[in-house]
Amino acid sequence: MKSLSQTMNEAFAQVPDTLIDYLSIITADYFVLAQNIRGLHWNLVDKNFHELHEELGDLYEQFSASIDVFAERLRQLSELPPSTVSEMLSMSEINEIITDEIDSDYVYDYLLTEFDKLQDTLRTAQKMAAEIDESSNNILSEHLKMIEKQIWLYKSNVE
Ligand SMILES: [Fe+2]
Repeated sequence: MKSLSQTMNEAFAQVPDTLIDYLSIITADYFVLAQNIRGLHWNLVDKNFHELHEELGDLYEQFSASIDVFAERLRQLSELPPSTVSEMLSMSEINEIITDEIDSDYVYDYLLTEFDKLQDTLRTAQKMAAEIDESSNNILSEHLKMIEKQIWLYKSNVE
């Protein structure tokens, strides 16, 4: 009789490298985005400072938690997630930003641009996972829903 780990390894062996690549990229995207958002949280100067400062703090916490979800999913698939800062930066499709003092217009423009990119990456990965890996599919679908909601909230704020 096969052990549970043998069965799991066989199941995970069917996951193509491309999904693993996407899960790694998304881990790195959340890492870089979380730190960029932390910078926005610190350097915001705006008449609505208090509200947006708090909101960015919450977003930072949410994105930090997401790093862990994707990294741990990679471990469950017997893969090593990116873990060093240099790996995160080289793998992420999000660039580091060096923030000066910024206002709410800058924040909303920045978040919309990067969330659009993240949404595309999550959607591609989710379609891939839907065929082969139910747990990753569930994680990706949940995160896709969250990003779609954030984009809607920020678009409603700008327009
Ligand atoms: Fe804070």
